[in-house]
Amino acid sequence: MCGIIGYVGEQNATPILIDGLARLEYRGYDSAGIAVLDSQGAIVVHKRAGKLRNLSNAISSSQPHGVQGIGHTRWATHGEPNDINAHPHVDCTGDLALIHNGIIENYQELRKELMAEGHVFTSQTDTEILAHAIERELAQGAENLETAVRNILPKLRGAYAMVVMSRKEPGKLIGARNNAPLIIGAGNGESYFASDMTALLKHTRSMLTLNDGEYAVITAADIRIHTIDGKQVQRTPIHVEWDAQSAEKDGYPHYLLKEIMEQPAAAQRALLSRIKPLDDRLVPQIDEIDALAQSGKLKNISRIIMLACGTSYYASLIGRAMLERWARIPVEPWVASEFRYADPVVGPDTLVIAITQSGETADTIASVRLAKESGAVVVGLTNMVGSALTREVDVTLYLNAGPEISVPATKTFVTSVMTLTVLALKLAELRDTLDAFAITSLLRQVETIPAKMEKLLEIVGVENNTIQQTAKWLAPCQSAMFIGRGSGYAVAREGALKLKEVSYIHAEGYQAGELKHGPITLLDEFTPLLAVATHSIVYEKVISNIQEVRARRAKVIAVATEGDELIHKHAESVFYVPEIDELLVPALAAIPFQLLAYYTAVERGCDIDQPRNLAKSVTVE
Ligand code: G6P
Repeated sequence: MCGIIGYVGEQNATPILIDGLARLEYRGYDSAGIAVLDSQGAIVVHKRAGKLRNLSNAISSSQPHGVQGIGHTRWATHGEPNDINAHPHVDCTGDLALIHNGIIENYQELRKELMAEGHVFTSQTDTEILAHAIERELAQGAENLETAVRNILPKLRGAYAMVVMSRKEPGKLIGARNNAPLIIGAGNGESYFASDMTALLKHTRSMLTLNDGEYAVITAADIRIHTIDGKQVQRTPIHVEWDAQSAEKDGYPHYLLKEIMEQPAAAQRALLSRIKPLDDRLVPQIDEIDALAQSGKLKNISRIIMLACGTSYYASLIGRAMLERWARIPVEPWVASEFRYADPVVGPDTLVIAITQSGETADTIASVRLAKESGAVVVGLTNMVGSALTREVDVTLYLNAGPEISVPATKTFVTSVMTLTVLALKLAELRDTLDAFAITSLLRQVETIPAKMEKLLEIVGVENNTIQQTAKWLAPCQSAMFIGRGSGYAVAREGALKLKEVSYIHAEGYQAGELKHGPITLLDEFTPLLAVATHSIVYEKVISNIQEVRARRAKVIAVATEGDELIHKHAESVFYVPEIDELLVPALAAIPFQLLAYYTAVERGCDIDQPRNLAKSVTVE
């Protein structure tokens, strides 16, 4: 949470910082601020509560000019989202400016200490103590900013990605990280810090990761990385394949719509090179899993634990069904924030599959560490190259979704499901629980998913009136109920999450069979039912559940299988998905709900790409 950016080079820093913040705004939008070291050698700070546009408007007539600066977009934790609590924060002298993402857990004791020594605090944030603590080191004789930063790091508890600059040491930025993301961009005669690579794609595709417990000193010409104890670290830059264009809206009114429409291509990329023809068969190809198997690490595995949060958790519910059905192995999906405090039963017999599109979700990372310490083997799924997850796991499977800018996840959901699909078939092959014929026949169907998505989007997509009409009557509702059975239940949970995230309509996802045990009381003519009623062994059961609510006058929107004409008898509105094996339906069935959430939010005038109170990367617990 919170987006941070730093620039040092020869260009005017302000437009670079503002543009970077625009790309990072999805990480938090309670306030925005910049600090620029101007040509007179003064640090000029501008900050405003609210969205970045408030800051941009405030500085439009008098932009600070200078060749280095830092910028921040905030998701408030300590201190309400106002101008004063906005970052950057400065020390008592105004010589230092600092931005931070994360939470300093021992900030109160540090603040007390610093106040007792005469430091004057202006904000309620935990961040401000960092500026004063560095100031104190310098006052007590630290030879330079780098030493001062290095001295304070061991005293901090909690999570941080921070960038600091000093008016007394121009041409230099120092960044440090622990449990919060920070990457370095290596440009031509210029260097950058940023919370993630999308902020820098316009300037460079050469990036270096910074690990927890490391800090970096960057100048226009040089990048140096050190561990907290001062040892220099050699790191080779990564070349990022994403191009700047892929992080633009491309004529769509919102990133969310663009990303929904990009799902067929994203699904295709997630499957690319993971399905291989072999003679007249198809085989799942995941080299990373083969390597794990060859190393003997999978030999004693008798169960799987899945760890994730939010949309990634719903992807894990879909993964569970495939893993259990095909690889015949017990699977427990856990919400990561619950797992880590549950004293979980986990050990060397456990394969952990952790899913986090950002690769940075604090609870997921902490749970992975816990599982590893207990001897589990961990496979991580993420969209972010070099993210924290990749450093914690035994192997990483990349989602290859491309940049996902909108806060509500769509592309990363379907690519997680695609990756889990091939993984489940790979484990079925290794465990010999499905024969080659069955695997081939499933993979042939998997291969058709991108094209089926394309067709589905053509039918229910942008120009489709039915979905927009349905959104019109959904928009005034205060509440909605989503139901499904089996994997359809996971789709219902994800559908409900999308609707509440984007349109702020209260929504619940329930197992269809559980409706009659309580939630049915909530249904009436103003509370619609959204049902996953695709062909499966439980189709008729779902239809019975729909009938139960129709008797209570609730309106029904159904996602059904193409060709199912009877469904019209049970629903006011129907969205069809193509016929496919029932365990493969979810990646398709989720799409009408995504579009419905989108158009409902449009009707309600919501802030679609940046829903209130949310952030795309959740680095706090
Ligand atoms: C936030 C986002 C959700 C996302 C969840 C987990 O809450 O708003 O869209 O599903 O974090 O994120 P992760 O990066 O771990 O998949």
